[in-house]
Amino acid sequence: MVDISAVFNRVKGAYGRLAKTLHPILTLPPLRVTFEVTYRCNLSCPFCFQEFAREQSPEFKKNFELSNDEILAAVDELPRHTLITFNGGEVFVRKDFPDLLQTIKARGRRCNIVTNGTMLFADKARLLVDQSSVLSAGVSIDGIGETHNLIRRLPGAFERTVANLRGLTAYRRQQGKRFPVVDVKTVITSQNLEELPEIYQLAREIGADYLTLSCLRTSELLFALPCRASMADGAWNQVPAPLTEPMDLELLRTQLETLHRLAAAGKPALRFYPDYPEISGILKYYANEGELEDYELCRAPWTNIRVAPNGDVYPCLAYRMGNVRETRLMEIWKGAALDQFRAGLERELLPACMGCCFLTAKPGVTYQAGTGCARAALVESHG
Ligand SMILES: C[S@@+](CC[C@H](N)C(=O)[O-])C[C@H]1O[C@@H](n2cnc3c(N)ncnc32)[C@H](O)[C@@H]1O
Ligand code: SF4
Ligand code: SF4
Repeated sequence: MVDISAVFNRVKGAYGRLAKTLHPILTLPPLRVTFEVTYRCNLSCPFCFQEFAREQSPEFKKNFELSNDEILAAVDELPRHTLITFNGGEVFVRKDFPDLLQTIKARGRRCNIVTNGTMLFADKARLLVDQSSVLSAGVSIDGIGETHNLIRRLPGAFERTVANLRGLTAYRRQQGKRFPVVDVKTVITSQNLEELPEIYQLAREIGADYLTLSCLRTSELLFALPCRASMADGAWNQVPAPLTEPMDLELLRTQLETLHRLAAAGKPALRFYPDYPEISGILKYYANEGELEDYELCRAPWTNIRVAPNGDVYPCLAYRMGNVRETRLMEIWKGAALDQFRAGLERELLPACMGCCFLTAKPGVTYQAGTGCARAALVESHG
């Protein structure tokens, strides 16, 4: 069976090379636009920066969120090949989110969603399988049982999310459908390290298509809003804080080896954010020794864009390039602010990129235990 994630990655690579080469003579439209439909959430995971945005900024409360019509107006500007992703906060906290999905389908467009799964009840399973054009549903599971509940800070969250996921895959099977593909998402932390193989087995048993393991991000600028008005603040030039929770790197190595062995025997396919072709890159990152030189140059600002719940448009780092309530999305995409942002990334990554899920590690990154904390030194030298 075709691996749609691998196909999308190949398209993304080719499109990104073309987009970056043609720019600025010709600005290709975005390949993917992510709408964060809300920052409201029924959970409050400690590592989630949106918690901070929610608490600090009145403009991320319900009344300031783009309406479905405003989101659809921005979608209508985009060519049909542009993939739409709906993320949050928690998308299903918005009572009108099912309507949005149905309208997207009615307009002949496809999308992806990411959810914590606690509200993915039977009606939502029917919505995703029958009444929408959702290609991929990413659902977060950060541990088995109590571990997940503690990380997600909601008693019973694990039981609910797993029951809902089982319901979704069972209904999909019953209807003879392939979509949405189910992508279980896990952030690697010291709390769930022991359980990573169990999470994989659970994802297999549920019938998930992918297990995506993300490295813990610490950058305040990576998807941490409200957006800053100008790059003159120099925050992009600061290395994100080192990871502070002690991590047993030997155990991490053996767990990752086990995961690769398990994945070699069938579904779900294993993915890493950032994309690491080798385990050593992940160890190096968790040892706070990651260096920008470990990663390929990034083409995401030439292919991707994000729209925050209040309409602010930002490329990846939280710098405001415009707002769809004031300027058309495609105008912002082709505008001077975004070009200036791209210019900084032509030949190098920015210090704040460290940990970003769009990064791809170069092959051959090595890690040797006990070589000191390079990240702490970098933080000091960049201030
Ligand atoms: C911001 S959440 C929004 C979707 C939904 N509420 C959920 O939890 O899946 C999207 C993804 O980002 C992950 N995430 C949140 N904070 C993170 C961090 N500091 N580092 C890496 N991933 C993080 C979540 O675990 C989730 O898989
Ligand atoms: S469920 Fe998702 S959006 Fe909500 S706090 Fe957790 S990671 Fe953030
Ligand atoms: S690696 Fe840097 S430039 Fe690329 S998407 Fe991430 S933050 Fe943006």
